[in-house]
Amino acid sequence: MELVILDTPEAIAERAADAIEELLTAKPDAVLGTATGSSPLPLYDELTRRCEAGRISFARVTGFMLDEYVGLPEGHPERYATFMERHLRSRVDMRPGALHGPDALNPDLQAACEAYEAAMAAAGYCDLQILGIGADGHIGFNEPGGPLDSATHIDVLTEQTRRDNARFFDGDIDAVPTHCITQGLGTIMKARKLVLIATGENKAEAVRQLVEGEVSPQWPATVMQNHADALVLVDPAAASLL
Ligand code: GLP
Repeated sequence: MELVILDTPEAIAERAADAIEELLTAKPDAVLGTATGSSPLPLYDELTRRCEAGRISFARVTGFMLDEYVGLPEGHPERYATFMERHLRSRVDMRPGALHGPDALNPDLQAACEAYEAAMAAAGYCDLQILGIGADGHIGFNEPGGPLDSATHIDVLTEQTRRDNARFFDGDIDAVPTHCITQGLGTIMKARKLVLIATGENKAEAVRQLVEGEVSPQWPATVMQNHADALVLVDPAAASLL
């Protein structure tokens, strides 16, 4: 695992965008894994700028989202499908329909999980997976305690995650869904390259565990220590407990 501490979210975004530019230059039809949350937003801004400048193109890219809330209706602004459409897909030259997500509107959620894992397998899994990290160490929505080799599955959000994400729901924790579908840790680990972004003091303990802790289901992101090509980009606040 390579750890890089950079001064600002913008510098982190540039470094992550460099990795994606390198990939898309070598492989224009790459499979890209996308993440939600606030951490990757400067990266999506930077990718949009590079696309507008003609440095990169998403025209042949296939995307797979990490996760999706269960229980939010079609078009809800905080559905991750809506979020990714707003912050990336519609801003770059990616084809409509080329960015896939788990179908959390399917009444048969287990079937939706299996279909998503199968779609990722058919695409050969991700060439590069963008990741954020939860304060409790989750990646995707893999909350503490689950197996380190899981496939796409239904997960239950922790109280802490729902509290952290309440800011996107007018501060109302009761409005935050209790369940989600997420790529499993095993799914994420199949990506050829992982790029994790963590900023702010709220992530300092999770980053400490990620970098210095033992690989353990209690801190799901620690599984990345077993990955052959993982890049961890953090700001000084997120690195403050290292
Ligand atoms: C959600 C997402 C995660 C993301 C996390 C951190 O829980 N499911 O993929 O890493 O938020 O969000 P933020 O970057 O806003 O702190």
